[in-house]
Amino acid sequence: MKATLVVRNIGQLATPLGSRAVRGKKMDHVSVTQNAAVAVNVDTIVWAGPETGLPAFDGPQPEILDARGRAVVPGFVDSHTHVVFAGFRDEEFLWRASGVPYMEIHKRGGGIATSVRATRQAGTAELMSQASPRLERMLELGVTTVEGKSGYGLDLDTELRQLDAMKRLDVLQPVDIVPTYMGAHSVPEEWKGQPSAYVDWMIQNALPAVRDQGVARFCDVFCERGVFELDDSRRYLEAARAAGFGLKLHADEIVRLGGAGLAAELGATSADHLLKADPADLGRMAEAGVVATCLPLTAFVLREPYADARAMMEAGCAVALASDLNPGSCYSQSIPLVIALAVLYMGMSLEAALTALTLNGAAALGLSADRGSIEAGKLADFLILDAPSYRHLAYHTAMNIVDTVVKRGKIVCVRS
Ligand code: NIG
Ligand code: FE
Repeated sequence: MKATLVVRNIGQLATPLGSRAVRGKKMDHVSVTQNAAVAVNVDTIVWAGPETGLPAFDGPQPEILDARGRAVVPGFVDSHTHVVFAGFRDEEFLWRASGVPYMEIHKRGGGIATSVRATRQAGTAELMSQASPRLERMLELGVTTVEGKSGYGLDLDTELRQLDAMKRLDVLQPVDIVPTYMGAHSVPEEWKGQPSAYVDWMIQNALPAVRDQGVARFCDVFCERGVFELDDSRRYLEAARAAGFGLKLHADEIVRLGGAGLAAELGATSADHLLKADPADLGRMAEAGVVATCLPLTAFVLREPYADARAMMEAGCAVALASDLNPGSCYSQSIPLVIALAVLYMGMSLEAALTALTLNGAAALGLSADRGSIEAGKLADFLILDAPSYRHLAYHTAMNIVDTVVKRGKIVCVRS
C-alpha cells in the first residue's frame, strides 16, 4: 500500500459510514474509534482504523501529521448556499429585527430584487472578489465542499456570470463548489406579475443554454406563495429534469404550499427549508429518497420556529443540514451555530447532526459515493478539531473548534 500522508495519534475518529445517505434513526449512530490513524494516498483515503493496525507503506514514506490526541471528523458539506452575490442588505436585516416580515420586504420590491440589481451590475471579477473571502471563512469553519446557487441575476447573462464565477473560484481555492442554476429564485422586474411567462422563457431559453454550457449540476426553485406556485414549479422542474439536471426545491419555507410533496412526486435530490412542510409529505419524501435539508440559521434569523428534524427522521427521511448563506434571509455561514441549533432546538442527536453535515450533505449533492465519511476509497477531506472528542462540536457552543483542514489529501488550513 502507498501513502503520501498519514495522520497518527488521533484521540477519537468519528464518522458516519457508507456511500449513501443515512436515513431515519440510523442517523443517531456514527462510528467512533479511539486511538486511530488515517492514511491518504494523493487525494484519497486508503486506510482508516485503530492505530495499532496501521499497515506498513511501500516506496517513499508518507508525511506524518500528529493529531496530538485530538478528534477527527469528515469535512463538512454545506449543501445549500447562495455564496456568489454582490452588495449587502444590512438595512433590511434591521427592518426585520424591528418586526417587518421577510415577504413584506419582498412584495415592496426589496429583498431578492435588491441583490439582483447589485449583482446585475457586477462583473465576473467583482463577483469573485466578493465571494472569495466568504469561501475562505467557510474553509476555516471546516467546509470542504459547498453548493452555490445562481439566482441573483435572473436574466441569462447575469445567471451565467454567477455560474462562471463559481467555476473559476472552484479552481482557485480548495473548497469544491457544486453549481446550481436558480433562475426560478424570484420573478424579475421585466416579468413582473407574469411568473408563468417567465417560467416559459426559462424553459425555452435559459435551461437549454445552462445545459449546453455544462455550468450547473442542479436546478432549484423558490416554490412559495406569491413567488412560484406549485404548477409553475412543477413545469420548470420537469423541464430541468428532462434536460438532465438534478432537482432541488426551496419548499414550504413560509407557507404550507406542498413543495415537499412536489419534491417526492418528481424524485428531487433534496427539498430544503421545510419549516411548514405537511407531515404526510415528509413520509412521501422518505419513500422517494428525497434528502430533507434543514437550514436552521435562516429560521434563527427570520425568527421562525425551527424545522422538526426529529419528525423528519421518524418519518424515515435522510436529513441534511446546511447554512443557506445568502445576502438576505441568512448572512451567515456559521456551521458551529447550525450544530448548536440542531442539537438544542431541532431534536437532533449530535451524531445525527454530524451525519447531516457530512454524508447526508454529500448525498444532497449526489456526491455520497466519493465524500462525506472517513473510510478507504473516499476523498481525503477531513478535520482535526481543537478538542479531544467530537462531542465538543456541540458542547463548545457556537464556537469554531476546527484546527486543521485536510482537503483532497492536502493540509489547506491550520489555525494553531
Ligand atoms: O433560501 N428563500 C429564498 N431564497 C433564500 C433567500 C434569498 C434572499 O433573501 O436573498 C433563502 O432563504
Ligand atoms: Fe436558500
